[in-house]
Amino acid sequence: MKILLTGSNGMVGKNILEHADASKYDFLTPGSRDLNLLNAKEVETYLEKNKPDVVIHCAGLVGGIQANMKEPVRFLVENSDMGRNIVLAAKSSGVKYFLNMASSCMYPKDHDGLLEEELILTGPLEPTNEGYALAKIMTMRLGQYINKETQQMTFKTLVPCNLYGRWDKFSEKNSHMIPAVIRKMDNAIRDNSESVEVWGSGNARREFMDAADLADFVFFALKNWEKIPEIINVGLGHDHSINDYYQAVAKILGYKGKFHHDLTKPEGMKRKLVSTKKTDDLGWKSKTSLEAGIKKAYEFYKKESV
Ligand SMILES: NC(=O)c1ccc[n+]([C@@H]2O[C@H](COP(=O)([O-])OP(=O)(O)OC[C@H]3O[C@@H](n4cnc5c(N)ncnc54)[C@H](OP(=O)(O)O)[C@@H]3O)[C@@H](O)[C@H]2O)c1
Repeated sequence: MKILLTGSNGMVGKNILEHADASKYDFLTPGSRDLNLLNAKEVETYLEKNKPDVVIHCAGLVGGIQANMKEPVRFLVENSDMGRNIVLAAKSSGVKYFLNMASSCMYPKDHDGLLEEELILTGPLEPTNEGYALAKIMTMRLGQYINKETQQMTFKTLVPCNLYGRWDKFSEKNSHMIPAVIRKMDNAIRDNSESVEVWGSGNARREFMDAADLADFVFFALKNWEKIPEIINVGLGHDHSINDYYQAVAKILGYKGKFHHDLTKPEGMKRKLVSTKKTDDLGWKSKTSLEAGIKKAYEFYKKESV
């Protein structure tokens, strides 16, 4: 089985390649320098030449709330272009199986309950990352239309909850919440700072899964392809408040200082918890505890930041 993995240098891609089952498959792993997904012709030529059986699409312009708010045009256009180019080239070159990595930001913003797959496109999106979410929705829908039009390629979309883990981005400019908290608290310990800033009240709730667990589901999906629904959430089934995440990171890093809340900063949706009914029905569960996951991400950060 020859698999084209886009985004192989990213957090999700690296976690897929580090999974114990990765050695059972023949992976093509071009980075953006070898294959620029924004260039439709280049993508077509690459697929025609390499003829993968499977595409796992993990490439994307991905960023935290600040980056998304600053550059909505780029998040919308680049993610739509990449999605469109890879999906259409996969279809025309005879790819049989397409696994698309989407995101829980595709869900409507005002839903406090569990996010079930059927809720996508039933309400307004969270404005802070709307451009990114629209691009993700477009790519998913394109794949669904192809599923309707032809039997030649089956297209499935995974909707992961928020992720963190090894190979995460820890820079000030584009990190997501957990790596940002790790970096801030590590700096505070180093600088003997008395307090660490929390954006907003810290009461918003989030579900963060170790990217290694998402990778585990990717291999589960490859082995159980026919049973996987067209759209399926991949998450933990439980969430924590932002304040809980700060406390968990403090415990692991040994931070003893205080926290202060900047209430002028945006904190996004109040709650974002995906339903795991479909993965539960398939008999799959994420395995990494929050403590073990944060420890692993922190060790990675310390090693990489030296
Ligand atoms: N991180 C999360 O919390 C999260 C949560 C849910 C879903 N997801 C989804 O999972 C997927 C992967 O996320 P991630 O966290 O692994 O992102 P990431 O670490 O930022 O990696 C994204 C990768 O996309 C590649 N890429 C960007 N522009 C490209 C282009 N023009 N041509 C080819 N490749 C390009 C980059 O490749 P190079 O490094 O080679 O330039 C990069 O390594 C995304 O679809 C994201 O929406 C992520």
